[in-house]
Amino acid sequence: MTKIEKIVLSYSGGLDTSIILKWLQETYGCEVVTFTADLGQGEELEPARAKAEMAGVKDIRIVDLREEFVSDFVFPMLRANALYEGQYLLGSSIARPLIAKHLVGIAREVGADAVAHGATGKGNDQIRFELAVNALDPSIKVIAPWRQWNIRSRMQLLEYAEKHHIPVPSDKRGEAPFSIDANLLHTSTEGKSLENPAEVAPDHVYQRTVDPLDAPDAPEIITIGFERGDPVSVNGKAMTPAALLTELNGLGGQHGVGRLDLVENRFIGMKSRGIYETPGGTILLAAHRGIESITLDRAAAHLKDEIMPRYAELIYNGFWFAPEREMLQALIDHSQAFVSGEVTLRLYKGSASVISRASPCSLYSADLVTFEESAIAFDHHDAEGFIRLNGLRLRSWAARNGR
Ligand code: ARG
Repeated sequence: MTKIEKIVLSYSGGLDTSIILKWLQETYGCEVVTFTADLGQGEELEPARAKAEMAGVKDIRIVDLREEFVSDFVFPMLRANALYEGQYLLGSSIARPLIAKHLVGIAREVGADAVAHGATGKGNDQIRFELAVNALDPSIKVIAPWRQWNIRSRMQLLEYAEKHHIPVPSDKRGEAPFSIDANLLHTSTEGKSLENPAEVAPDHVYQRTVDPLDAPDAPEIITIGFERGDPVSVNGKAMTPAALLTELNGLGGQHGVGRLDLVENRFIGMKSRGIYETPGGTILLAAHRGIESITLDRAAAHLKDEIMPRYAELIYNGFWFAPEREMLQALIDHSQAFVSGEVTLRLYKGSASVISRASPCSLYSADLVTFEESAIAFDHHDAEGFIRLNGLRLRSWAARNGR
């Protein structure tokens, strides 16, 4: 084993990363610095400090990354209307490069030669962390304990904890918990009964949205303001990116918006079933498409839609810090120069529907489209020629086929 001098660990303070912390200290016999990111997961982070202190960690980093997460990762992704496999809003995928960026930053600052994470060997997250570290600083090694140690099951993990006097919360002793990943954009739940896609997910997996069946009978009307492709206000009130997403999560959650039960294809090769809750993100996707519908040229909009699946797959597969993602981002960002205005939506029993949109940069022309008499010169005979020429090859083809 190569000698490691100092490690920065991505540390949540939960059972898994507490065990990983102990294991790293024992296995490498070196200093471990812990890094805990506040991504709006809605958990108290001070207990993580206390636990790291108890484990003898001297350098404990707890950093509020909420604004950076939303403004530099979530919003750029939203400009593309990114969805993986047509449905997944990429809530976990987009958080990994940010965490990796800070792991690398701290490693450089404290002179660490390695970073470590608690992602398992079957998932996407290990790939995302490690590809990001590769792209940001190839000199930094990555330690993935789940791929290295002999612990192979939940039971063995608990035995290790017991042996090393790591406190195990009582609810973690019995049945294995769901695997949950939460941040300002979403909550993702996997594992246990969800591993059978033929089984209906139990109600208690949902954490931040009400069942649409129990949502208020009265719809709620909200207006979102956009500037150059990014949301900037809710109901006329200007907000920072993280505050805006927090506000929409609250509104969407109350109305049961943003639930998704999905079987997806992991990059590593297997299918997995998960439950996602993305209330604010679901509202923002609908709203962004709404404002784009009046401000983007047709060909520009269609080109965006063509590259979107590719862009989403890059993020899903962990290539955020890759040249091709940056190239696509430049194209997407360029398209957003006039994507400004206001979109009004109705939240009602699980749906977020655009009901009106307006923009000072609108390309929509009522005068052009109207069924009534129009002031703009539009010669109906032009349409006749347009159709005749477009139909030319179809007439040849049909005649040859003998129709
Ligand atoms: N399958 C999702 C993804 O790859 C979520 C992964 C993390 N979630 C979790 N519950 N462990 O982006």
